Amino acid sequence: MEFGLKVATPDKQRAACAVVGVFESKKMTDAAKELDSLSDGYIKDIISQGDLDGKANTTLLLHKVPNVQCKRVLLVGLGKEQEFKDSAFIHVVQTVFSTLQNTGTTDCVLFLSNIPVQKRDVAWKVMQIAKLSVESNYRFDKLKSKPNENKRVLRKITIAIRDRADLAACETALTQGAAIAHGMSLTKDLGNLAPNICTPTYLAEQAKELAKTYKLKVTILDKKDMEKHGMGALLAVASGSHQPAKLIVLEYQGQGKKEKPIVLVGKGVTFDTGGISLKPPAEMDEMKYDMSGAASVFGTLKAVAEMSLPINVVGIVPATENMPGGNATKPGDVITSMSGQTIEVLNTDAEGRLILCDALTYAERFEPKTVIDIATLTGACVIALGNVATGLMSSNDKLSQELITAGEEVCDHVWRLPLWDEYQDLLKSNFADMANIGGRAAGTITAACFLSRFTKKYNWAHLDIAGTAWKSGKEKGSTGRPVPLLTRFLISQASTSK
Ligand code: BES
Ligand code: MN
Ligand code: ZN
Repeated sequence: MEFGLKVATPDKQRAACAVVGVFESKKMTDAAKELDSLSDGYIKDIISQGDLDGKANTTLLLHKVPNVQCKRVLLVGLGKEQEFKDSAFIHVVQTVFSTLQNTGTTDCVLFLSNIPVQKRDVAWKVMQIAKLSVESNYRFDKLKSKPNENKRVLRKITIAIRDRADLAACETALTQGAAIAHGMSLTKDLGNLAPNICTPTYLAEQAKELAKTYKLKVTILDKKDMEKHGMGALLAVASGSHQPAKLIVLEYQGQGKKEKPIVLVGKGVTFDTGGISLKPPAEMDEMKYDMSGAASVFGTLKAVAEMSLPINVVGIVPATENMPGGNATKPGDVITSMSGQTIEVLNTDAEGRLILCDALTYAERFEPKTVIDIATLTGACVIALGNVATGLMSSNDKLSQELITAGEEVCDHVWRLPLWDEYQDLLKSNFADMANIGGRAAGTITAACFLSRFTKKYNWAHLDIAGTAWKSGKEKGSTGRPVPLLTRFLISQASTSK
């Protein structure tokens, strides 16, 4: 996809399609009015005939509009003007791209960034348009013997803005939106891949690729290294699988060596059967997405590197399968983590926290400014927040607020749950320092409590993406979340640390 940004009004543009908005009921935006006067009331006529009244996400494709140099004009309904907020804008842009993708339009010019959106500036709109256009182009058909026969000829998108004074900010926004979307595509690809292909070894290979493309430092730890470091918790999860586990470390350096890095730790369970505490069969295929945290770390690093952000970022991915097997960890087993703390494994399906705890201890060696872990950690989080918000837990108010703000800026929502000490009691074990589960109550929080015991040495936040990383049902597929949130957070960190 090629992008352009132009200070322009609709009169002199030449493209396969111009896109303008119409509010309910029949109220034209400035750009629509301009096309209308250019064509001597042609558009107004069509609207007053009732072909489009401006209801949200309706569209009307016009050809050969008099005096207009674009071959087509796409009118898109915006809904009620008072209700036109960010989520409505996003939906409209999605409608525009899915409509355009089904026409023969090769290039288009969008006059949408001038439409007022509550609490959002032009740069925000440009960023969203760039991101959503790349997303509209995303397909995952590499595992089909013949690719889908969709024509998809849309190649070039020009975003028109009104005010030259906005140009610089909009250029930056365009770059950021595209980088976020490119990162999301990588995250989606890794998530959507079949679990017989996307193994820990495959993830390690992808990390090497990423390192080669963007000049990152990559380190892959295998079983022997894990044993040397005493990563008993990670090894305990890996022990049921024939696929060798990997601990993948990627380092992006956009700042001097002295600058402390932000460390992202992503859960990389490439398939979660539950282990000996085997999961029920329904929808078990979706447990291929249990490496979505890892995939979001890769995607975020890709976005950061593409933007050459002036910041240091380390990605750590503990990668393993969780399988039943003759050598698998059993309920009741007591294991020793890298931190030295012992853990009674009461349920082998609570494996994410076991691989994360060793990765979090390993993170200490980077003397991090902040550590954020990202994990499809608990089904309870899906029950609490559904598919809308990622769960956030941290005892650091400032960091929490920064993450919430970053999420709001890119409409990749997070919601904070408490992490009060009172919850810690639920992890008591009669036989080890702690149990790996806390019972049914507050399952998302007790999982975070478990992790908190391994993160005492730095600022830390935990993101539970169990509900937001992928969609189930007919639209089954990775969402690429929370790459927008993480990337936006790092952009803000890069600009405040300068
Ligand atoms: N990967 C799952 C969490 C999960 C389940 C995410 C369903 C998305 C959808 C995790 O490893 C797990 O199995 N968690 C258990 C924890 C329990 C045993 C304490 C869960 O949530 O049931
Ligand atoms: Mn599990
Ligand atoms: Zn899991």
